Amino acid sequence: MRKLSSFFVAAVLALLMSQIIAGCKFQPSIGYNKGYQPEQPIPYDHSVHVGKHNIQCQYCHSQVEQSRHSNVPSLQTCMNCHLQVKTDSPHIQKLREAYDAGKSIEWNRVHMLPDHVRFNHSAHVTKGVNCQTCHGDVEKMQKVYQYSDLSMGWCVNCHRQSENKAPLNCSTCHY
Ligand code: HEC
Ligand code: HEC
Ligand code: HEC
Ligand code: HEC
Ligand code: HEC
Repeated sequence: MRKLSSFFVAAVLALLMSQIIAGCKFQPSIGYNKGYQPEQPIPYDHSVHVGKHNIQCQYCHSQVEQSRHSNVPSLQTCMNCHLQVKTDSPHIQKLREAYDAGKSIEWNRVHMLPDHVRFNHSAHVTKGVNCQTCHGDVEKMQKVYQYSDLSMGWCVNCHRQSENKAPLNCSTCHY
């Protein structure tokens, strides 16, 4: 019994150590910011817009099926509704001021792969991989965060699953 529990303690310590080492090694690299949730200039809330009001992802992220990048919507998209909706809110007044001044909102990026990696939204979305598989339940998030770790292992493990038939050669994902 005692032997078993000291073995257990040793195993836990080893695991912790390996995580600390991995943490030191990988924390500075931009691909490993799982859970990253930057402040945004306007408290835009996906759970209100998608969860409560059922606005489709593609209404705002309209390029996601056509292009490598999924765009973040322009202020014009917001003003389709907010020229009328909630105009008494100070946040919406801030949107309106920027809009009238011809400015845009500088959203802070949540996801950022390293430059040597090639990712392509349309290749995934047109093959039926859901946004939620990679981004989590965004429709429940008041503030978006990075749900997956965006590591090479994460990409490759999914590509390797036989039903995906997705390529595994290095040049698929690397420049
Ligand atoms: C009404 C417009 C709107 C809708 C609808 C919408 N989004 Fe967004 N989304 C935004 C805006 C604005 C941002 C940038 C601000 C932020 O990060 O919160 C954003 C940011 C994101 C990000 C983070 C981008 C980054 O910087 O890495 C993801 C991921 C995302 N949205 C996924 C989704 C998904 C999935 C859906 C549907 C379930 C969805 N969005 C629906 C407007 C929208
Ligand atoms: C299709 C219509 C529609 C679009 C497009 C839209 N919104 Fe909204 N938004 C709403 C509605 C409706 C509410 C009110 C939600 C509620 O109170 O239930 C709201 C609420 C908000 C609020 C909260 C206001 C407050 O103080 O209570 C903010 C901030 C906001 N939206 C920002 C944005 C931004 C930024 C965009 C563009 C990226 C955007 N919205 C696009 C319909 C929209
Ligand atoms: C196979 C996984 C995967 C799927 C499916 C996916 N995304 Fe992404 N998304 C990513 C990755 C990885 C990034 C970071 C890309 C980068 O940094 O170049 C990202 C970034 C984003 C961004 C930030 C802008 C950009 O292109 O870098 C938005 C917005 C976004 N995704 C929205 C969506 C929406 C909306 C859907 C569904 C219609 C979706 N994503 C489906 C993995 C995915
Ligand atoms: C949840 C599963 C999943 C994850 C996670 C995933 N992929 Fe994919 N990927 C796919 C599928 C499915 C395809 C489509 C294969 C096909 O064309 O039949 C694909 C296709 C691609 C393609 C296009 C290949 C071509 O045909 O040109 C690239 C590039 C790619 N993935 C890169 C990535 C990168 C980089 C990551 C991680 C940041 C990633 N993928 C994460 C499932 C995934
Ligand atoms: C399905 C996509 C995918 C494939 C296939 C892939 N990689 Fe990667 N690779 C990534 C992503 C995403 C990263 C960045 C995140 C990370 O470092 O884990 C990465 C990171 C790396 C790094 C680390 C660079 C650093 O900054 O530490 C090396 C080296 C690398 N890949 C080499 C390869 C080689 C060699 C192959 C072919 C045998 C390959 N990759 C195939 C997606 C892929």
